[in-house]
Amino acid sequence: MTLTTPKLLMSKDPSDFYTLLGDDVVERFNGNFEDVSKPLWLNIGFWKEARSYPDACRAMAALVGEAADLQDADTVLDAGCGFAEQDIFFVEEFGVRRIVGIDITPQHIEVGQQRLRNLGLDDRIQLAVGSALRTGNPDGSFDKVIALESAFHFDTRDEFFREAFRVLRSGGKLVLADMLPGAGEQFSGLIRSLARKRACVPRANMYDRVSYVRKLTSAGFVEADVKSIAGFTYPGMARYIHHRVKKGGSYDDQLDALSRDDIENIAGLELWKSSLGVSDYIIATARKP
Ligand SMILES: C[S@@+](CC[C@H](N)C(=O)[O-])C[C@H]1O[C@@H](n2cnc3c(N)ncnc32)[C@H](O)[C@@H]1O
Repeated sequence: MTLTTPKLLMSKDPSDFYTLLGDDVVERFNGNFEDVSKPLWLNIGFWKEARSYPDACRAMAALVGEAADLQDADTVLDAGCGFAEQDIFFVEEFGVRRIVGIDITPQHIEVGQQRLRNLGLDDRIQLAVGSALRTGNPDGSFDKVIALESAFHFDTRDEFFREAFRVLRSGGKLVLADMLPGAGEQFSGLIRSLARKRACVPRANMYDRVSYVRKLTSAGFVEADVKSIAGFTYPGMARYIHHRVKKGGSYDDQLDALSRDDIENIAGLELWKSSLGVSDYIIATARKP
């Protein structure tokens, strides 16, 4: 942990952690937004076929967009939108008509809004600083609600399920890409609880995928389904972090493909398991009746 740790340990606000990361998902590589061509993804990517970090993040957004069955006529709420990279992708690849992005980190929204203006997409994607737990949107106002690798931060995720249920129209769909402990896996201990505090991951969100389905159902959702994609996420990201940190590589370098062993044994998982205590990565879908 770095010198900034004491300050982050005092904070309950994920925006302190994310402001420290700045324009790079890998800590200590913040380039202060000087490289305007750098994509500003903040998820760990889906590395089934992708060989570079930006491609893995696009593949993750594609997976989420497909799980949500995004259509051009959809109005979408993106909770924890970061710099809105996936929203640009949803408009360009799925033709989505209107997206409202909300994020608790002011820097994400400021930079995101500027990029949307530059791309001429600010009429279709509107961003606001705020909490995913109290979005301020009317009941039944969205066809789809998405949370791409953000709900593990929400204090609490269960409360977000209720807010998502409220703002979805009847028949609307909630889709999440999310990090969580594996069934029966150990996630307690002082080091892990300090690491979670630093990264703002509430203990209340530390439950496995079986409980995840139960909690979606308790919030009123039907057809709740949770699929693990852990083997295609952590190994690729671990390799990418190694490439950046140990080899001094660039964010868009092409990396070696994952082997069957890497995928089956979830190579590199220890990085997350020993710190945050997460070892599963899921795509969750549920529908409001
Ligand atoms: C891992 S990043 C993912 C960002 C983006 N979805 C992506 O894939 O690039 C998690 C995001 O959740 C946001 N976040 C954390 N807690 C939040 C909350 N309570 N409400 C809204 N956004 C939140 C953070 O600011 C951050 O942008």
